[in-house]
Amino acid sequence: MDSLRIAANVKHIFLLYIWVVYVVFNPTDSGAVQITQQTLASTLASNELVFINFYAEWCRFSNILMPTFDEAADKVQESFSQPGKVVLAKVDCDKETEIASQFHITKYPTLKIIRNGQVAKREYRGQRSSEAFVSYIKGQLEDPIKEFSSLEELLKLDTNKRIIIGYFDAKDQKEYDTLRKVATNLKEDCQFHVGFGDVSKQMHPPNQPIIVYRPDTERSVDLDETYTGNITSFDELFAWCSGRCLPLVREITFENAEELTEEGLPFLILFHHPDDKTSIKKYNEIVQTQLIEEKSNINFLTADGFKFAHPLHHLGKGEADLPLIAIDSFRHMYLFSNYKDMDTPGKLKQFIADLYSGKLHREFHYGPDGDGTENEKGTKPTFPPESSFKKLAPSKNRYTLLKEEL
Ligand SMILES: *[C@@H]1O[C@H](CO)[C@@H](O)[C@H](O)[C@H]1NC(C)=O
Repeated sequence: MDSLRIAANVKHIFLLYIWVVYVVFNPTDSGAVQITQQTLASTLASNELVFINFYAEWCRFSNILMPTFDEAADKVQESFSQPGKVVLAKVDCDKETEIASQFHITKYPTLKIIRNGQVAKREYRGQRSSEAFVSYIKGQLEDPIKEFSSLEELLKLDTNKRIIIGYFDAKDQKEYDTLRKVATNLKEDCQFHVGFGDVSKQMHPPNQPIIVYRPDTERSVDLDETYTGNITSFDELFAWCSGRCLPLVREITFENAEELTEEGLPFLILFHHPDDKTSIKKYNEIVQTQLIEEKSNINFLTADGFKFAHPLHHLGKGEADLPLIAIDSFRHMYLFSNYKDMDTPGKLKQFIADLYSGKLHREFHYGPDGDGTENEKGTKPTFPPESSFKKLAPSKNRYTLLKEEL
């Protein structure tokens, strides 16, 4: 009797022991997957979507985030359990310095999404809660392509957006699959619309799908274009679509300001009235025809002058002064003296050159360079207005920054 009871107890204790070991050492793969140099390539290659938390153990923001991110990893695994779909992963950047430099990590924690092996331009900058992460992943996995059911629908598409339209025979063809992958990688920059079978029959020869680009006619002076390359080559189609979907002149908003400042280039900004499309187009045209080789020196942006009233105010300007052009160097702001001079070939280019030569800055202290004319009114401030956009850069209240200010 007794020996039996002892045996039962031993069994009990043994099971309890197993349970404790299970909970404490957690032998299942729960939480985010730890990535090392050895596993990086295979993880990226074997998953459609990899969401990576680049962290450092000594960074307090990383430590706050970690349990939340692990929790999100478990929830995502529950919702999308089929292998090869999505995985949440983490990289210890102090141990894996090569990976950190490969991904250009300049702050902790950095959250990047990799789709079909390609790093998305846009990193995650949203709320750091497991719900927000899960809903972000769900959004990432949504089909980026919208199907139209009649050609008339194409007349109603947003003229403020860049659009890629595909005319196909059927969905289950290689060409469509290539476009779908391209769309997944570019969905934040372009809209994708496709029609199959009878719906798009009159738009393409049989068995010869056609892909066209329709520009954002409200902003740009681009023309409609048809893709003439190989539709089953991902690299070729991706390069073509990227060239059209990622424009030289972008609109700055409060949502994308952080990532734009992180690109590290000074801003040349056209501030415009929200209804004024003419100046946006004109600016686009001048950038494309005269300033294209400046793109490695400066970021060409447009800003709604009502939403960005604060920087205007900094320049001593208001809504009535729109449109106007200014440079924000992340130290100071400089006003382009006369918006109408934009039309004069070479003027904007000179304005950018004057930033780099230090002329813009000198002039604030000593008046106009060289030409002998005095600073008549004498009302110029002794120092140029401070940068407004620097404040929109990644915040020290959210990140450990590895390099000091821009
Ligand atoms: C198109 O690209 C695919 C994939 O790269 C390749 O297999 C095929 O041979 C190419 N077709 C032509 C006509 O070049």
